[in-house]
Amino acid sequence: MSENGSSYWEDASVIHITDTQWGDNGKGKITDDAAQGADIVVRTNGGANAGHTVENDHGEFKLHLVPCGIFNPNTVSIIGPNVVVDPIQFYKEYSDITAQGVEIGDCLLSQDAHLVMPWHRVRDNLRETSSGEVRVGTTGQGIGEVYSDRARRVGFRVRDMYEDNFEENFCRTYDAQARLIQALANGSKVPHMPSAEEILTQLHDAREFIEPRVSNTMEVIGEAHEAGKKILGEAGQGVLLDLDFGGYPFVTSSHPGAMGFLQSTGLHPRHIDKVIGVTKSYMTRVGEGPMVTELSDESGYLLQQRGNEFGVTTGRTRRTGWFDIPATRYGARVSGSDELALTKLDVLDAFPEIKVCIGYKVGNQEISTLYDFDPKLLSRAEPIYHTLPGWESDTTGITNYDKLPKQAKDYVSFIQNELGVTISKVSVGPHRNQTIHR
Ligand code: IMP
Repeated sequence: MSENGSSYWEDASVIHITDTQWGDNGKGKITDDAAQGADIVVRTNGGANAGHTVENDHGEFKLHLVPCGIFNPNTVSIIGPNVVVDPIQFYKEYSDITAQGVEIGDCLLSQDAHLVMPWHRVRDNLRETSSGEVRVGTTGQGIGEVYSDRARRVGFRVRDMYEDNFEENFCRTYDAQARLIQALANGSKVPHMPSAEEILTQLHDAREFIEPRVSNTMEVIGEAHEAGKKILGEAGQGVLLDLDFGGYPFVTSSHPGAMGFLQSTGLHPRHIDKVIGVTKSYMTRVGEGPMVTELSDESGYLLQQRGNEFGVTTGRTRRTGWFDIPATRYGARVSGSDELALTKLDVLDAFPEIKVCIGYKVGNQEISTLYDFDPKLLSRAEPIYHTLPGWESDTTGITNYDKLPKQAKDYVSFIQNELGVTISKVSVGPHRNQTIHR
């Protein structure tokens, strides 16, 4: 652990923490650590499709919407306008944390964040099972549907819940959505959606709870920035799932990269002092889409078991594979990562040898650098591996980089050299304390 998060803030007052791969790399853990020195932590994109695990002296927490800065009572956590929020879920998640008696900081919710409603989940699941649509393997949280309603300018925002005619608008929209769902089901069984009255009853408590937290968060962030406060952005997912930079259509519907940070903070790209790209020591992916280094053998199973690679939101088993340099170098570049936090190194403790994919063979061509993340090309790519010796010893208690086994340091150096980005932190376990600052 860095004392008061100081190792993050020595040379920066605006930091974006994102993920250079497909998400699930431990942004929650790194954000919780960095938040010890932050004045404001802003969740920048996505919604409850994210699942951020935090383990600190208060216990273990699985957060989906609440920013991971919440455990610093001196930090203001903000859910930005580019995040999509299910108010009922937010209320429950927040109440669950406070019910554990943890002293937490304030949490503000942007008045402009769009609301995830039950019909978004129903539509998401219907599209995923419909034969006419590409199956993306979504988390089923309605994310693509709510962002598309936002783009069509028909969504509800947080502020709309407090308009006098909200219930009337809600019921009109509910009826229209029920008809849309019938049409999407196209004769097959229509999934259950609670009645308008049931949803409004549940929304009642959530609305009351949320009201004092609704805020013009752009103003809060803008003023804090002008006052020189420390601002941390926490992305959801990873840039290989970015709507524009990822392998479309096997992507999420928001921007885990810098665009999401800008949309949720109102800051300009030149205001970002540092981007930390959280990078796992091997690859994982959930959902559909090509994954060049995917393993279906004993090693893949070992990575899955040792890394506890099961989705926090859906419980789905994550696909696993060896570290992929071309994909991660692309992710580090499009995320603008100035430095990397390499996580889950300890998961590799058990391997006698470790492979790293340094390039792809596509037909007769060898490729080591990607400038776009084209799933058609990636689905034809075969990995070219470089093999390194493992260290076969327990690293979970090591707090000083020099004390890591030589082979582990060689592995970190190899990845750093191949990516061309400094690895400033190495994580060897889930607890906040298990982060080595180099
Ligand atoms: P959606 O975001 O639920 O629409 O899902 C789109 C794609 O992003 C699917 O492949 C999901 O598995 C993936 N995805 C969404 N959220 C996460 C996450 O937090 N971690 C990893 N993958 C995610």
